Amino acid sequence: ALAVDMMRPAFHYTPRFGWVNDPNGLVYADGEWHLFYQADYETTLHGNMSWGHAVSTDLVHWQELGVAISYDQHEQIFSGSAVVDKDCTSGLCAKAGEPVMIAIYTSYDQVPDPNSPLDDQGHSTNRHFQSQHIASSTDRGRTWTKYAHNPVLDKKMYEFRDPKVSRRGDHWLMLVQKSEEHVLQFYKSSDLIKWGDGKGGDGPAGEFTGLGATGGVWECPDMFELPVDGDAKNTKWVLIVNINPGSRFGWGSAAQFFIGQFDGDTFHADGDYSWLDWGADNYATITWDSAPNGEVVAIGWMSNWQYTQVTPASTWRNAFTVPRLLELVTIDGKVRVVQNPVKNIDSLRDLSNAVHQSNLAVANDYTEPAIRGRALDIVVEFDAGSAAEFGVKVYQGEHQETLIGYDKAKGQVFIDRRISGTVNFDALFPDRHSADLPLVGNKLKLRILVDHGSVEVFANRGEVAITDVIFPDPFKDGVSFYALNGTATVVSVDVYPMKTIHG
Ligand code: FRU
Repeated sequence: ALAVDMMRPAFHYTPRFGWVNDPNGLVYADGEWHLFYQADYETTLHGNMSWGHAVSTDLVHWQELGVAISYDQHEQIFSGSAVVDKDCTSGLCAKAGEPVMIAIYTSYDQVPDPNSPLDDQGHSTNRHFQSQHIASSTDRGRTWTKYAHNPVLDKKMYEFRDPKVSRRGDHWLMLVQKSEEHVLQFYKSSDLIKWGDGKGGDGPAGEFTGLGATGGVWECPDMFELPVDGDAKNTKWVLIVNINPGSRFGWGSAAQFFIGQFDGDTFHADGDYSWLDWGADNYATITWDSAPNGEVVAIGWMSNWQYTQVTPASTWRNAFTVPRLLELVTIDGKVRVVQNPVKNIDSLRDLSNAVHQSNLAVANDYTEPAIRGRALDIVVEFDAGSAAEFGVKVYQGEHQETLIGYDKAKGQVFIDRRISGTVNFDALFPDRHSADLPLVGNKLKLRILVDHGSVEVFANRGEVAITDVIFPDPFKDGVSFYALNGTATVVSVDVYPMKTIHG
């Protein structure tokens, strides 16, 4: 049991008990960052879903508050969002004109539709209706009342979900997925209760469809506006469309995104889609509503539907990525989404035990300096030298290592978890996950957040992020540098042990 408990992350949020998937209801209000999430408190599997809740004042330390909105015999509480209704447009505040927090979620009917289509054997396919509901809280998200006249948006559909609501000018805007059709719809409302096209019709104001990856169902949409290169007069919109399955690997779940413009009714992509993360374990990624200074902060579920129910687990299963600041930066003439850990993550660095080295020549396996550690923030710059491949090994020991490296012939940065520890629960798990990234003057900068069950890599300016979960033997905790077929140089490296966020 000791080895299993050692899997609990040091600085990534995970609940004490039970199962989690998607982040939900991300909203900043009164100095608190709210993280609601899909939770099953009774098992470590996806079962009867409720919204769990945690709050933070710094995006680093989280206070777990337990069940916020619970399933019952009629419904499960699927994914959605939350907003602060400042002016009480909904009428659901305690006193007229006072703020009220509103959660907008997908209600999944517990009882299957008795008129579900029949399969080819003549048996019912037992499909469950999904519709959009709201709940309100007048005590900063601690207790919730489901709205008496739910649903607020019901198209009598089986796969219609994951409403993401935000304030846009004089109205509320909802993004919601017709998941099986790969149609993202935009609805408008003046009061969070009546949803339509904003002109009196009960259909959507606009639809986004016909583009992007469509190998699975579309889930968990999000959209936000960002300045390009910090220029407030030149903004673009980013649309996130999570998809499961149908990642670039051909299996499992992943977050795709588009850059473009929003015309008030629908989104127009500038070009093709891309992936927010090049690893396997960053899904249902969405952003906080009303973050201070207009910043866009995202968090993702650090797992993959392909294998998430069969990973090694104890009394809890799954964690979230670190919160990441998203920006738009022009790199090599192209506007890119750049992501990096929020600044406050730096506060976890144990500076008195940090290791700094510079100008280390690396050939084959280089194990000096003998750094060990299970929860680390590694900031490293390499000169590729003559090596065909080079990088860092973490969770290294006999027959075990996780590589964070660069393949020069392919021009790709990667995480390789083929022998990262326990890998045999799914044949697709042990693999190398690579992303195209040119060297800059033969150099590569990496920031690597290593925790007990995960590795997050941010390369160069953050234009490439790679997130993978791992299940290592915790006693094989070596860190070293390596180079293959030639010599590389560690220009400089700082290795910071990370303090735990658990009290
Ligand atoms: C995405 C998802 C959502 C759904 C939720 C159910 O991971 O399938 O579409 O609302 O999980 O837990």
